[in-house]
Order: sequence, then C-alpha cells, then structure tokens
Amino acid sequence: MKIGVFDSGRGGELVAKELRRILPEHDYIVVNDRAHVPYGSRSDAEIIDLTHHAIAPLFDAGCEIIVIACNTATTVAIDSLRHNFPQIDFIGIEPMIKTADLESNTRRVTVLATPTTLQSLRYHHLKQQYGSSLVFDEPQTDNWASVIEFGDPKTIDFGDVEKSIAHGSDTIVLACTHYLALTEQLHRAFDHVQILEPTKAISKQVARLVAARQAE
Ligand code: DGL
Repeated sequence: MKIGVFDSGRGGELVAKELRRILPEHDYIVVNDRAHVPYGSRSDAEIIDLTHHAIAPLFDAGCEIIVIACNTATTVAIDSLRHNFPQIDFIGIEPMIKTADLESNTRRVTVLATPTTLQSLRYHHLKQQYGSSLVFDEPQTDNWASVIEFGDPKTIDFGDVEKSIAHGSDTIVLACTHYLALTEQLHRAFDHVQILEPTKAISKQVARLVAARQAE
C-alpha cells in the first residue's frame, strides 16, 4: 500500500527509513517543506496552512494513510487535517510521556521538543494525564531543527541535556523527529540513559490501519 509521510524537513526521511525497515512491504512516499523549516517557531495558523499545502502531493499520489511525522505539525494541525480530509487515515506523533511514566525509575525525564510543541495544549494535557508523578526538564533546543536540516548536527551543544541528567533524569524523550538524527550522538554521550523515540509505535499504527483498510 502507498503510505504518505510528511515532516517539515529531514524528520520524515528518518521516520520513513525505520518504517521501510520494519514494514518493507509498503511503498513510502515522503514529502517535506524545507522552504519553511523550522515549523517549531511559527504560529499555529501558519503551521496549519503550511501543512495543508505540503501534504497535497500525497493525495495526488493516492495515499490513503498519511503519517504526520512531525510532533509540531501533529500537535497543531492534526485535528484540522482529520476534519478536512475525513477519507484519509492520519497518524500523528506525540511526545512519549505515557511511556516515560511507565519506564522512568528516577521519575525525572528530559523532553527534547520544539518551542511550539512545548507550548502546545496537547503537550500540557499529556503531562497532566500521564506525567503527574514526573519531573520534566525541557532544555532549550530552539535552533536544533535548523542545524540538523542545514548544518552539522555534531555542532549541537548538549550542555542543558547534561545538566538535566546530572540532576537525575534517566530518560530522554525525543519529541521532534529531526532529533532522530541525534540518537547515536545522545547514546554515546549518555550511555546509561534510555532514549524514547516513536518509530516502533508508528509502525504498529501503520500495520493496524493497513489491516483495517484491507479488511474493508
Ligand atoms: N521535525 C519536526 C517535529 O517533529 C519539527 C522541526 C521543525 O521545527 O520544523 O517537531
């Protein structure tokens, strides 16, 4: 089946790479909107508008399942997408606060996300719902998506992440798909800390929706 994957930039390819590995039987069509990266410091109205435009080629390509492989676009735009395109199954990505709650022993976690995601209502609800017994550190990552997109990820400074881990965090939540590009660097720098990232959960959702469509 043709599966659409969208992110503002590189995150879509990083997610699609994992999907191709886990579910190689599908055809993944990836679109991005590099002209407008980063989304993470734009207004909600802009993000909704840009996302609607950017995913249009996926409709033309015949994708009935579309992964919004962008936490920022998911938190801001997914309701409007579902409302406007009810014939499409959209899979969104959210910060893995529920999993962090299940897996953190120290009860302190480090969330790496764009400013828009950190300020979103959706993120606040997730924290209220699943994170009431957790302490959250949210290091500033404002320029990370741009550096990953256009520069050298190796120049990114993990100073605030290091502080959070020194304060007892045992879990890093990768809540921006661009930051999948940092997974190895983070593993190397903080080898005793677990890193939560959403690609396995997305692949389960893809498999479930494909099965549902094939059963129709
Ligand atoms: N990759 C996107 C995310 O998951 C955001 C990058 C951007 O700011 O455009 O949030």
